Amino acid sequence: MGFRDKLKNADHALTFNDVLLLPGWTTVEPSEADVKSRVTASIGLNVPFISSPMDTVTESEMAIAMARNGGLGVLHRNCAAEEEVNMARAVKRAEALIIRDVVTVKPDFTVGDLIGLMDTHNIHGFPVINGDGGIVGIVTWRDLRLADRTLKVSDVMTKDVITAGEDTTLEEAKQILHEHRIEKLPIVDSGNHVRGLITMKDITLKGTYPDAVRDDLGSLICAASISPFDFDRAIALDKYVDIIVTDVAHFHNKNCFDATRKVLKNVSAEVIVGNIGTYEAAEDCLTKLEGVAGLRVGIGSGSICSTSVVTRAGAPTLYAVSQVADAVKDYGSDATIIADGGIRNPGDIAVSISVGADCAMMGNVFAGTSESPGRLVAMEGRYYKEYYGMGSAAARKKRYAQDRYSQPSKTINEGVEGWVPYRGAVGDIVSEFVGGLKAAMGYVGAKTVPEMREKAKLALITERGSQEINPHDILLPGSNKKV
Ligand code: XMP
Repeated sequence: MGFRDKLKNADHALTFNDVLLLPGWTTVEPSEADVKSRVTASIGLNVPFISSPMDTVTESEMAIAMARNGGLGVLHRNCAAEEEVNMARAVKRAEALIIRDVVTVKPDFTVGDLIGLMDTHNIHGFPVINGDGGIVGIVTWRDLRLADRTLKVSDVMTKDVITAGEDTTLEEAKQILHEHRIEKLPIVDSGNHVRGLITMKDITLKGTYPDAVRDDLGSLICAASISPFDFDRAIALDKYVDIIVTDVAHFHNKNCFDATRKVLKNVSAEVIVGNIGTYEAAEDCLTKLEGVAGLRVGIGSGSICSTSVVTRAGAPTLYAVSQVADAVKDYGSDATIIADGGIRNPGDIAVSISVGADCAMMGNVFAGTSESPGRLVAMEGRYYKEYYGMGSAAARKKRYAQDRYSQPSKTINEGVEGWVPYRGAVGDIVSEFVGGLKAAMGYVGAKTVPEMREKAKLALITERGSQEINPHDILLPGSNKKV
């Protein structure tokens, strides 16, 4: 191929703003559309939305809120492995029919020690065990509230603890909790060793979030990100999470493949890899890595990305998803496709699905919610939350961000820092996006996400056309500028 052909044969890397969904014959009312999808072949989502692994977006509070609302949050990795593991534990503990990973204490702990433990793990009751591991009491926040911090646990705990055997059903547990007016019921084996904990809070919560995505034990589904080179972190997280997501700006790289192969062989969690942006990258992930459950797709489209400005390299999300989707189809794989970067509106998700995505990952949209960890700041009478790219100077200053965008060979920032408008609770944003996606499905005439993928047709739009489809020739409330 000659140099001239490189331009002549260049692909059209279309982005969200370049396309429209064509309305089709429909028998589907938006309210009838079903937005259920999947994040891996075996893990379904009730809404196809995922929050990005970024330290201004997803810590445990966001991951819990996303899973309760039917989606998924991917914990960020811009911290020590231990901190990320603690976040994952908090997600798993937020709701469970039986908590299996019970934190116990010894009778000679002090009240002060216990208050420290409560703060670290955000737990408010502990079974007390003796040297043989047998249960000898239970201590809860109520026993400590006014207690002297130097007292021992054995001085303040409830000694005649009510327990239940391992074959106790949920209904029986409810009955025992009610009968004894207690909040926590340790489950013990024949040797009196604690094997689990059932709490009134979890039983009550189960009815509160009917759309929540849960595992077999009733805990929320949890995903966490890793650098493929951080094998120890992957192993530590594997005990708690259902999904591990590699967090690399350009995954189609020999070293990333080699390191991920080792992770894939040694973890039981499902592994989603990325980011990738081309047919060839997907083809290599599917043929050279055994057991990949999903592909995280899109390079350089993120609202905080400066990768393509700095390097002129990138694969806009819409284009990238269409490329990857064809590879997945051609290889008959059941790997899922997550559209990642640049998604601002439900329509962007609708077009992503129409070119093959299963679900969409968003940073900007969720960074503005109450559940994100970013700082809330007031500016000119409005509230904003801090949001920055993981390749920005702010994130790179945090030592652990180093391997995603700042390999030793990289001396430049590939992300920017700023603020996004505060948008309230995650639950409200999810409802708004579900409404928008259902409306788009109604226009296409698709009742389900797989049907949307098959049926939806796209049209290209020019820049001038793009102006026409945005509100125009009107003075909007609160603004003195005509748009
Ligand atoms: P949105 O548009 O939802 O995009 O804010 C979030 C996604 O952007 C990616 N990401 C980055 N990309 N430089 C980049 O080029 C960065 O600093 C950066 N930080 C995050 C990531 O895929 C995320 O899900």
